[in-house]
Amino acid sequence: MLDIENYSYIDGQRIYLKNVSVENANDIFEYCSDEETVKFLDFEIHKTIEDTLFAIKNYFILSPFGKYGIFLKENDKLIGTIDIRLNNNKKSNFGWVINKKYQKKGYCSEAVNTLISFYTKKISIKELYAIHEIGNVASEKVMDKCGFKKLNVYRTELINNRERKMCIHKILIS
Ligand SMILES: CC(C)(COP(=O)(O)OP(=O)(O)OC[C@H]1O[C@@H](n2cnc3c(N)ncnc32)[C@H](O)[C@@H]1OP(=O)(O)O)[C@@H](O)C(=O)NCCC(=O)NCCS
Repeated sequence: MLDIENYSYIDGQRIYLKNVSVENANDIFEYCSDEETVKFLDFEIHKTIEDTLFAIKNYFILSPFGKYGIFLKENDKLIGTIDIRLNNNKKSNFGWVINKKYQKKGYCSEAVNTLISFYTKKISIKELYAIHEIGNVASEKVMDKCGFKKLNVYRTELINNRERKMCIHKILIS
């Protein structure tokens, strides 16, 4: 039986990962209300702060396991979120997003490495998978940088009424 409390905070170098709360609504709304940032994500753009509060309560708080805000140590600002989704046979997928103002500074890669290192010490995992939409160059680069290898495996998914061609990557855990 997992003790969820042991998974609520993960320490990184410049960042820490912590479960999301309603107090983080303004920081999340800042980037979830930006069309370009949410283009490749699997939820609709947030039009009002109420959309953000709904998402926090129904996604992050209802089942918090594996879901984190990415916080800057220097000022405790939430600059994005990351989640690891483990299914029964421990195959995985990830979700990640970083506020545009903080992109290309290595924060997502740091969050991915921090998360993987933490989870693979706690849970016996042999391999992890990550998936991105073809054309999502930034996400593909994060996978490369974190050591995922591109498999020549593609699948089409219908997400938010749009057919998306997805590309699968995998990393072996030693
Ligand atoms: C994907 C995303 C989370 C990356 O966040 P980030 O903090 O900018 O990523 P990093 O800084 O760790 O970048 C990792 C590498 O990718 C590169 N990179 C990041 N964004 C890039 C872009 N738009 N175009 C080209 N390269 C990019 C970085 O330069 C870095 O490579 P380097 O170390 O060789 O310089 C961010 O672009 C984002 O939030 N996108 C919108 C949401 C999204 O698409 N989520 C993923 C759904 S699968």
